[in-house]
Amino acid sequence: MVSEEEEGSGRYIVVKALEDGVVIMGLTRGKDTRSHHSERLDAGEVLVAQFTELTAAIKIRGKAEVMTDVGKVESGA
Ligand code: TRP
Repeated sequence: MVSEEEEGSGRYIVVKALEDGVVIMGLTRGKDTRSHHSERLDAGEVLVAQFTELTAAIKIRGKAEVMTDVGKVESGA
């Protein structure tokens, strides 16, 4: 049994769409990796999301500014 801190759940991610139609997918934690949710953002929209027991990774398609506790990066550039 790993603690929430060890598995990295509870952390937040902020995504700001820099174009219309940016897609953010939540990927499952555990042995298999599948997309369990997707969210579409238009330019200027911001999503504040949290890593959970279910969500271990996030995939972003399109141009967006991504802020996490390890830094800031731009996707789709
Ligand atoms: N199911 C994978 C896991 O729990 C999800 C995952 C975590 C992942 N980090 C990743 C998938 C990095 C691709 C890339 O480990």
